[in-house]
Amino acid sequence: MVTANVNPASPELHLGDYNIRRMTPADLPAVTALDQQVFKEPWPESAYSQEIYYNSHARYFVLEFNPPSALTRRRKSRSARTICGFMGVRVKRGRGHISTLAVHPEWQGQGWGEILLIVALEQAVLLKANEVRLEVRGSNEAARRLYAKYGFTLLRKLRRYYRDGEDALLLELKSLDADYQRVLSENFRRLRAQVTHPHGIAERSNILRKEKTWS
Ligand SMILES: CC(C)(COP(=O)(O)OP(=O)(O)OC[C@H]1O[C@@H](n2cnc3c(N)ncnc32)[C@H](O)[C@@H]1OP(=O)(O)O)[C@@H](O)C(=O)NCCC(=O)NCCS
Repeated sequence: MVTANVNPASPELHLGDYNIRRMTPADLPAVTALDQQVFKEPWPESAYSQEIYYNSHARYFVLEFNPPSALTRRRKSRSARTICGFMGVRVKRGRGHISTLAVHPEWQGQGWGEILLIVALEQAVLLKANEVRLEVRGSNEAARRLYAKYGFTLLRKLRRYYRDGEDALLLELKSLDADYQRVLSENFRRLRAQVTHPHGIAERSNILRKEKTWS
């Protein structure tokens, strides 16, 4: 397991004031609101319902912020629990597909996207994927850099894949072997220390300089 101490049957990761856990029907209004905020072509709530209720090959997770009660009182605009990210991965016949990955704009740039990607890749390993694919907009520099950092390379361009006419880049990760999983574990350990440490975010750039990457 990449993210130690997680029960594969009911995975829940505790990272300081944050949890990463399976998406439930109760999360769907918050997930679709965030989806609409960050994606040009958001999914309807029914698409998420379909995935979490009926797709046995899929695993969807949310990143949830559970602030201590004093903080909740100060931040009156936020409810006690806030969904600040999510991701989904499907695996069929040894091939994984990351169907979605998003972090709320207020939480971007702190390592959460990378953590969610590591958890998605871990799920792909658990579901016996030998390779993983995903689509990304050519213009999505942040996501492209994130995926490149984790070894995804261009398989082919999908012409006019999106409704607005933009091409998608179909990326693939060819191996999730033991060496790759080891590096995922190391990166996860450092990122966990960063996001749970009070000054961790300020220290992020130093940590990342030491991280192993595939780019
Ligand atoms: C893509 C996304 C998930 C990244 O999440 P994040 O939490 O901001 O990313 P992180 O802080 O974990 O950064 C991890 C890596 O992503 C890349 N990255 C993140 N933000 C970036 C930016 N603004 N510019 C360039 N690269 C960026 C970098 O490679 C970074 O590693 P580095 O700091 O060592 O350079 C987030 O920007 C997002 O939700 N975007 C909207 C939804 C989306 O486009 N999803 C992807 C669909 S394919």
